[in-house]
Amino acid sequence: MKALGPVIAVLLLAAMPVRADGDIAAGRAFAEENCARCHAVGPDGDSPLEAAPRFRNFQTMWPLESLEEALGEGIVTGHPEMPQFELEPGQIDDLLAYLASLPPD
Ligand code: HEC
Repeated sequence: MKALGPVIAVLLLAAMPVRADGDIAAGRAFAEENCARCHAVGPDGDSPLEAAPRFRNFQTMWPLESLEEALGEGIVTGHPEMPQFELEPGQIDDLLAYLASLPPD
């Protein structure tokens, strides 16, 4: 029985929802992998797809928190070029942390 303490602690931690602050590096990796072919996802440069807004300016377009819901439900832009994404809450935290870390134009 003695050995179970740590095991239970680990299980409790694993069961907790990931609501901690996002991981900026993970958010950047996600953006580079999934979004960079259309959006400018870095601190400078133009979007490869002209119509796609630059990630660094998202924070000036809407409050970033409003993206949280949109990302969780799958963004629908009505734009055929934009694929639908549904992100896990942890991925959203990471992405939002990364977006907030970028210097807007
Ligand atoms: C195939 C190209 C493409 C990819 C890949 C892409 N986007 Fe987009 N995205 C667009 C275009 C084009 C627009 C502009 C749509 C418009 O204004 O109608 C857009 C708009 C957006 C918007 C603004 C939505 C709005 O309501 O104005 C957000 C947020 C967004 N993209 C997030 C992302 C994220 C996050 C990823 C990666 C997970 C991503 N996009 C990947 C093309 C893309």
